[in-house]
Amino acid sequence: MHYTQMGKLGIQSSSFGLGCMRFNGAASGDSVIDEQKAISLIRRAIDGGVTYLDTAYVYLDKTSETVVGKALRDGYREKVTIATKMPMEYVHNREEMEALLESELKKLQTDHIDFYLMHGINREKWEYFKSIGAPEFFNDMKQAGKIRYKCFSFHGPYEEFEYILNDWDWDLVQIQYNFMDIDYQAGKKGLELAGSKGIPVVIMEGLLGGRLARAPGNVQALYDAFPVKRSPVEWAFRWLCNHPAVSVVLSGCNEAEQIDENLRIFDTVAPGVMDASELELMDKVREAYLSRTKIGCTGCRYCMPCPNGVDIPGVFSVWNSVSLYDTDPKGNWDLRQIREKDHGADRCIQCGACEAACPQHLSIIDSLQSAWQELHAQ
Ligand SMILES: NC(=O)c1ccc[n+]([C@@H]2O[C@H](COP(=O)([O-])OP(=O)(O)OC[C@H]3O[C@@H](n4cnc5c(N)ncnc54)[C@H](OP(=O)(O)O)[C@@H]3O)[C@@H](O)[C@H]2O)c1
Repeated sequence: MHYTQMGKLGIQSSSFGLGCMRFNGAASGDSVIDEQKAISLIRRAIDGGVTYLDTAYVYLDKTSETVVGKALRDGYREKVTIATKMPMEYVHNREEMEALLESELKKLQTDHIDFYLMHGINREKWEYFKSIGAPEFFNDMKQAGKIRYKCFSFHGPYEEFEYILNDWDWDLVQIQYNFMDIDYQAGKKGLELAGSKGIPVVIMEGLLGGRLARAPGNVQALYDAFPVKRSPVEWAFRWLCNHPAVSVVLSGCNEAEQIDENLRIFDTVAPGVMDASELELMDKVREAYLSRTKIGCTGCRYCMPCPNGVDIPGVFSVWNSVSLYDTDPKGNWDLRQIREKDHGADRCIQCGACEAACPQHLSIIDSLQSAWQELHAQ
């Protein structure tokens, strides 16, 4: 396992951080978590050297923190740092922030949270958090030893990231970043701004929710032509860790094989290990993807549940996958499931609830219509 210095904090972390948002097929609509499997995956990662776990109050229908807490019994808590988050929607004043933090500590079965994040903020949400006294609360909790570091995760444009980063003395930030998103959201500029201030950066969506793990034909051809053979996942993580400002790369794994593969990969990563030919390869890979992707949905499910029953990430996932892999939608099992369960885009009543919730700010309503038409074109 490669370990990094976390900027100005003066502590170390494994480069591989386990994301606890996608256990047990939550991305496909199944919210029932297989506890024993999730616990064994978490412990497998820790036994392999992972020291950073990322969860949140809302993940997996609010069950993620509970499962993490159970996994960290029997001496595992002492081996890791925990990152969890305060969601804006659940707090309106000091009392509610206190109650929420206490409930998180209880679920996580711990007396302190290492990295406490304001969850998924942009400028508007940051202003809201300030208006209810969240910065003072975070300072007080830090002093009381209930949280060690005050942090935020971010979804929004770069300008808002810069504003928020410069507006308070943050200890750590979490941003979406991968070789496709260099100019998207905080992007490379945001990563480097945080790095220049010594603020450690944790990466989410490093594989774009798994999409970068499955190379379409034109991308695989580029990988195959390169003299050194690596899996798409290895290329993606290697590219991220090559940047010296990246402290931790989160990956949400669903299977033991994925944990093992990622543990192997994170043995080989380090800042500056990629040579010019490798970096050039990744530029070409980016172009090859861009020529095929239909919509930048990462399957984070912030848009769900749709009030009228549309499986929004499911429809977009099929749309992208059919385009990326050049497959016939008629034979697509996921699309059949969506139709059989009556979760298709034809149910959309254009209420816009999804667009307000989407951290990628996608034009969901129009895209759903286009996707449905294209998927049923013949
Ligand atoms: N704060 C926020 O706003 C926010 C938003 C999003 C995410 N997050 C956090 O960031 C974490 C990471 O994000 P993410 O889950 O989107 O990460 P990701 O690494 O982009 O995607 C995870 C998916 O990649 C696939 N994968 C991982 N390792 C693989 C391997 N070795 N081989 C093949 N496929 C592999 C799996 O997909 P399959 O399941 O398809 O196999 C897995 O579910 C989350 O778990 C969560 O903790 C935070």
